[in-house]
Amino acid sequence: MEVKNKILVTSALPYANGPIHLGHLVEYVQTDIWVRFKKSIGHDVAYICADDAHGTPIMLKAKEQGISPENLISKIKKEHEKDFKSFFVDFDHYSSTNSKGNEILCKEIFLELQKNNYISQKVISQFYDEKEKIFLPDRYIKGECPKCGAHDQYGDSCENCGATYAPTDLKNPLSILSNTKPETKDTNHYFFNLKSFKDYLTEWTTCNDLQPAIKNKLNEWLNDNLNDWDITRDAPYFGFKIPKEKDKYFYVWMDAPIGYISALKEFSEKNNKFENIWSDEKDGEIYHFIGKDIAYFHALFWPSILKGSGYRTPNGIFCHGFLTVDGKKMSKSRGTFIKASDYLKYLDPEFLRYYFASKLNESIEDIDLNFDDLIKKVNSDLIGKLINLASRCSAFLDKNSNLMLSEVLEDKDRFQDFVNNIDEVKEFYSHRKFSNAISKIMSMTDKANQYINEKKPWSIDDLDHVQKISTQGLNYYRTLVILLSPVMPNLLKHSESMLNEKDLIWEDSYTPLLDKKIEKFKALKNRIQKEDVQKLKDELLNKDEKKKPQEEKMNTEIDYEDFSKINLIVGEIVKAENVEGADKLLKLSLDLGDLGTKEVFSGIKKFYKTEDLIGKKTLVVENLKPKVMKFGTSSGMVLAADSNGEVIVLDLNENIKNGSKVK
Ligand code: MSP
Ligand code: ZN
Repeated sequence: MEVKNKILVTSALPYANGPIHLGHLVEYVQTDIWVRFKKSIGHDVAYICADDAHGTPIMLKAKEQGISPENLISKIKKEHEKDFKSFFVDFDHYSSTNSKGNEILCKEIFLELQKNNYISQKVISQFYDEKEKIFLPDRYIKGECPKCGAHDQYGDSCENCGATYAPTDLKNPLSILSNTKPETKDTNHYFFNLKSFKDYLTEWTTCNDLQPAIKNKLNEWLNDNLNDWDITRDAPYFGFKIPKEKDKYFYVWMDAPIGYISALKEFSEKNNKFENIWSDEKDGEIYHFIGKDIAYFHALFWPSILKGSGYRTPNGIFCHGFLTVDGKKMSKSRGTFIKASDYLKYLDPEFLRYYFASKLNESIEDIDLNFDDLIKKVNSDLIGKLINLASRCSAFLDKNSNLMLSEVLEDKDRFQDFVNNIDEVKEFYSHRKFSNAISKIMSMTDKANQYINEKKPWSIDDLDHVQKISTQGLNYYRTLVILLSPVMPNLLKHSESMLNEKDLIWEDSYTPLLDKKIEKFKALKNRIQKEDVQKLKDELLNKDEKKKPQEEKMNTEIDYEDFSKINLIVGEIVKAENVEGADKLLKLSLDLGDLGTKEVFSGIKKFYKTEDLIGKKTLVVENLKPKVMKFGTSSGMVLAADSNGEVIVLDLNENIKNGSKVK
């Protein structure tokens, strides 16, 4: 008899600074399928998650919207929860890392680590933005790669040559917040001594449930230098204060995973169970589902923090790859960044769950959402085979036997052969080989349809015989829907109402439902129309680049107040450069007199040679919100006239002083 353990399962905590998108959903759907499967076979599972509410991006986003970070995160949490619910991602508890409980626990763990000599302090030199009065996280600094010289690289790594470095190594660094040159400033930080855990981590890596690719990566890291981990951030920061410090906060990645524990605590308090799982290994198993981008945090820091503060460590970490859309990285400008809420306007959430399941397995390979493939899989497999099976059989029962199921099956042995496949599907689910599970379920569906096609109930006059055949067919459907239920829980629910049943679990799939009246079949799902996918794609593309609809352009009147918001400044083009890889853009440096210099990207390459632009005085929109582009940040706009298809940069009188305001 299989032991039914208690299991705590988590998904990574999504940042509370943006909406849930289909990339996120790979993870939450994957986890939810596994959790539903485990519950269906009788395990006691707590599926726990929370919003990750701290850090600089969230603080800045709130500032940009003119609201408090608390307001922002509570608004976003509601949206996240709504999206998860719509996609049938069913957490047992969903919390936020910005909770009192998490704060207490985070401080407790920190003090314990400190007591055990795992925390040290060091004065370090960091980039500081004098204008914005803030220490700059690595991702808020751009400059030239110290290794290959590529322009516009972030402060932590180069996208061109893959080098990793400290932001202070960048050449010509610029703060992306103010576009000014950052200063270096000393600050005292707390560090977690990761090195002390090298032996423990080596052992942990071998003994636990990790994918081979992740094990290899961990061994690589373990054989490299394990650097002390900086867990401090200076004010202004949105997070928890470090005990006995004034302007210092815990780095978001310190309090976020602790959120796994504090969120479970909230669940335990409500449900009186799982109280001891984080302290006692014998009490149950713990698994974290994450994307491969955050493996370092979960497989090195997290077990070390836990070990160092007297907690038990997780039994396994399950990583997945990244989602691409029609073969491309998700990106707003390509129209491949699909929010959960946008998808829902046009397509059924369970279709995406089915599609993801048909592609997901235990590897960390990226997975591609190909819409043609999605349409094919849903229309031919799900609707054409599975739903069709139910609709055919119930139609016969409706016509011939008043929706009564027969007392016996037409061919018991054949049904038993069918049922003998179930354990294989169960194994696949257990090992997160969802794509294999789906293939198997679909080949079983083929067998079920074959049975009906062979028996040809439509050509039989004996009503009893027709009833038995249809009952057998419908029972195939019932078994299949139970096997598919971790992936399509809503389909199960609808099918239960047709079958007049409730709370079907895995065990029910082995035995047929007989001698019972069922309900009329209602079309449970409809085929995907190509136009719906097209509408979704159009909406995504229109949202960004091609935005402004024609009518908006026609509405030309603006108030003086609108006009006065535009800071029009005279600027001199002092530098003009071609941009590698961009066929339309030039990079211009503008001298704005007392306002300093600005860099903008302008789509005028077709019309100008770089040398012809130097020395031109022109009009610049100075307060345009900086736009982070593939090639760098554009922090303003140069005005140009569209003259008979040619674009001409406005040329001003050369006596006007740079920086003059235009009114
Ligand atoms: N807040 C951190 C996790 C903290 S866990 C203590 C974080 N948040 S996230 O919102 O950026 O991502 C949440 C999860 O979604 C991560 O596991 C991440 O790997 C996953 N994904 C985000 N974008 C994804 C794709 N495009 N494709 C697949 N998974 C993706 O990281
Ligand atoms: Zn480089």
